[in-house]
Amino acid sequence: MEKKRFYITTPIYYPSDKLHIGHTYCTVATDAMARYKRLTGCEVMFLTGTDEHGQKIEDKAREAGITPQEFVDNIVRGDRGILDLWKLMNISNDRFIRTTDSYHVSAIQKIFKRMHDNGDIYKGKYVGKYCKPCESFWTDSQLVDGKCPDCGREVQDAEEEAYFFKLSKYADKIQHLLEDTDFLEPRSRVNEMVNNFIKPGLEDLCVSRTSFTWGIPVDFDPGHVVYVWVDALSNYITALGYDNDQYDDYDKFWPADVHFVGKEIVRFHSIIWPAMLMSLGLPLPKKVFGHGWLLLDGGKMSKSKGNVVDPYILAEMFGVDALRFFLLRTFPFGSDGNFSNEALIQTINVDLANDLGNLLSRTVSMVGKYFGGTLPENQAEDPEKDGELVGMASALRSRYEEQMEHFAFQNGLAEIFKVIDRANKYIDENAPWVLAKDMEANGSRLAHVMYNLLETLRVCAILLTPFIPTSAAEVLRQIGACEKCSTWDSAAQWGSLPQTAAVQRGENLFPRIDAEKALAQLEAAAEAAKKAALPDLEIEPRLEEKVDFDTFCKSDFRAVKVKDCQPVKKSDKLLKFTLDDGTGADRQILSGIAKWYKPEDLIGKTLMAIVNLPPRKMMGQESQGMLISAVHTEKGEECLNLLILDDKIPAGAKMC
Ligand code: ME8
Ligand code: MG
Repeated sequence: MEKKRFYITTPIYYPSDKLHIGHTYCTVATDAMARYKRLTGCEVMFLTGTDEHGQKIEDKAREAGITPQEFVDNIVRGDRGILDLWKLMNISNDRFIRTTDSYHVSAIQKIFKRMHDNGDIYKGKYVGKYCKPCESFWTDSQLVDGKCPDCGREVQDAEEEAYFFKLSKYADKIQHLLEDTDFLEPRSRVNEMVNNFIKPGLEDLCVSRTSFTWGIPVDFDPGHVVYVWVDALSNYITALGYDNDQYDDYDKFWPADVHFVGKEIVRFHSIIWPAMLMSLGLPLPKKVFGHGWLLLDGGKMSKSKGNVVDPYILAEMFGVDALRFFLLRTFPFGSDGNFSNEALIQTINVDLANDLGNLLSRTVSMVGKYFGGTLPENQAEDPEKDGELVGMASALRSRYEEQMEHFAFQNGLAEIFKVIDRANKYIDENAPWVLAKDMEANGSRLAHVMYNLLETLRVCAILLTPFIPTSAAEVLRQIGACEKCSTWDSAAQWGSLPQTAAVQRGENLFPRIDAEKALAQLEAAAEAAKKAALPDLEIEPRLEEKVDFDTFCKSDFRAVKVKDCQPVKKSDKLLKFTLDDGTGADRQILSGIAKWYKPEDLIGKTLMAIVNLPPRKMMGQESQGMLISAVHTEKGEECLNLLILDDKIPAGAKMC
């Protein structure tokens, strides 16, 4: 029989910054779904990639002083870049598309031309607003308080000759698609789309730009580049080989079974994308699922807000599986969720260390201790005592499946942990350590108690595989599950494990985390990351207001020689200078530079001072002028350098 096929995608990410835990969330969810479908026997296509064009990338590359291609290459392929991150997170994507891949570029040109030739793309003039970070055009009526309705940031005026896509033509069809089918989920997102975008009147969409060049050129009209969302959305078909020879899976996998996307890009996927496909005469994806955001302190994580969480740090501290598990166990996929380190540690300690980890280590060690690692054939059932656990574990696969088919990862996991909980209770109820006191009388009963625990672990581990692939495989190894009793089918067949199963002890899968220590470590890491993100070197960018020349000339700058320099008592900032200013009398100046200079290093140096300022008292001592230094910021810290002059300049020499 031919395998069922399943095509699932993540959004393709902007390589404009390093990715954070919010991005990781969606990719991990997609990975869990893809692995689940593979487990159930489907032939899966799991696509992810990067969305590399647009003005934002062009600007960032310019800031960094490199070409846009170099810029995106760094973030995609560089050290700890996007590819590294997906490898770290054990993401099992079958394909990775970059919108700068040449096959994609030429396919987009053909797609754009086709929509142009069939009359759905026409030339006009664009007047409106543009949000650069979101790469979104808005009309005035769509703005919220004059700002971008998606991100709340400032928008810019934009006017240029541009191509337009006849989105308005498809309004009715799209409304029907949203309202009368289950194309878009969760259903709560449907109202938002219909009320905010379709009912006010769907306007034609500006689909080309001329004000920057980092995009796919419209090949029949030089100077225009294709709007980045037309380019990006099409990735879902070009990556299968649509309009190109790179791949040949379009017929096999299109239409997609589901696009997983964050809620702020549901609009593009549930309105613009279906309209484009209608224009091209192609089938629509079966479903778009708009998931919620991971929030930090109540707000969306984003690099520009500086409140991102680095998945590398978390994965290194707690393990990849623990992190994957946390993301899908804690937050309902369709809603927003508050990320916190405390919740992460708590979930690891409770579910993984305590419930699953303990069940495994207790069971395996008891089988070792009481039976030398291999259960005997002679086992005594006790339907009264075993019934509930066996019933729950036998029904688990179908309960789990029902949740997974609706992308309800949290609920699917909750079903598993109900059974794990029940199994831990089963240990207490049957008190194996009591049975073990009289092996002759109770040995066969004890063996069956152990068997039921191994079986429960087996079923749970199979179903946990999509979430924690490495650890689930280790559970199966430790309980001695063979390949045949690690399959999807066998997860619904209680008793698949041979009675004489042989366990293999292994290391503790999920060690308990010392919360206090871990939190302190995380805080230190966050602090270090914040520092590292600061600009290396910063100078005051704004020049002072102009002064007229005469005013300037009134300032009396002189070379001064340091005769003596001492720290000022009770001040960790001030140094006291005794200076030769060429007048014959000593001049005393106090200067707040103790942080940067040792007094003894300055004696004998020739410095520059302004000497006609009114005297000032500092820490009870008079300061007659000011030493001149240069100020800048390095990694967020102020740095000060005294202007040190050539020693051959005599004391009192006037500076002009
Ligand atoms: O939107 N919580 O790319 P992107 C949950 N290139 N999800 C989050 C998140 C958070 N805190 N932060 C970001 C784009 N995401 C386009 C997509 S698809 C044809 C083009 C999710 O890198 C976000 O919701 O800005 C989106 O689904 C994905 O990360 C990529 O975001
Ligand atoms: Mg975004």
